Amino acid sequence: MSPPSNGVLPGLPGPDDTFAQEGVALIHERSSVVPELAIVLGSGLGDAVANDIEPEREFSYRTLPGFPPSSVPGHAGRLIMGGLHGVPAAVFLGRVHFYEGHGIGAATLIPRLAAALGAKTLLLTNASGGLRPSLKRGRLMLIEDHLNFLGANPLAGWRFPDGQPAFVGLGAAYDRDLLALAEAAAQAEGLDVARGVYVALPGPSFETPAETRFLAKAGADAVGMSTVPEAVAAVALGLRVLAISCITNAAGSEDTHEQVLAAAREATLRLRALIGRIVPQLTGRGGDEIVGRGGGGGEAGQAP
Ligand code: HPA
Repeated sequence: MSPPSNGVLPGLPGPDDTFAQEGVALIHERSSVVPELAIVLGSGLGDAVANDIEPEREFSYRTLPGFPPSSVPGHAGRLIMGGLHGVPAAVFLGRVHFYEGHGIGAATLIPRLAAALGAKTLLLTNASGGLRPSLKRGRLMLIEDHLNFLGANPLAGWRFPDGQPAFVGLGAAYDRDLLALAEAAAQAEGLDVARGVYVALPGPSFETPAETRFLAKAGADAVGMSTVPEAVAAVALGLRVLAISCITNAAGSEDTHEQVLAAAREATLRLRALIGRIVPQLTGRGGDEIVGRGGGGGEAGQAP
């Protein structure tokens, strides 16, 4: 079978679908929340917000247009519309991973829905393996840049309204102001938070020792299987992105998925404190500040 012209397999979420608009229509029927913030809680990290949400409505991903059923234990797959630390928010508990096999387009559904709902900022969290000796289990790392080793680009097939491919600048994909804000918040909380480069691999297998050595030499500080498709799509859509990684293991170790989840749960106390400091400071930010950021940001709000 020859590949479709938009680079996306038929039937899977892609640039020509209307899932984001359909999702907004469905959510608006039952929720009046206009989120300023969208947040994604990755593997085992839901407790970092669980007690801080004032929920208005909850949606299972199963009921959202285009969302595949979650196949991963520990990924609840729920969207909660409500307040988070007093800020109107779309809280995504669980994400769609590339390794689930639904195509790279499925991993962009969350940022697309977030942007269509009106969010200005996307806060991404994940679990990752530390590639530097100082990035020990339980430490938090602010992602300042990434390596996309997924073998696919989430913007394949996207077009801006003028028909141009999504030539989106990623020179500052992770918003510099938000990084500074997060660093100050960490300091105020007395948290030892690192900054570093995250590399996304397709998974679901973990890295071999040779791959681990290669990734460290390539300039990565932590390795995981998520976040990058969401961050890239979010930048194309004009969202400001902040991403926080919880180091759950040393990369290349023999840890099981269950051990990674357990370590993530341990790190949630620190993550909760950090999110609690950052989120109230996001209020009133965004809007005009987004326009013109990192090439493509200006017109990007109209991308698919
Ligand atoms: N490798 C890839 N993904 C991960 C890891 C890892 O070591 N830990 C948590 N997610």
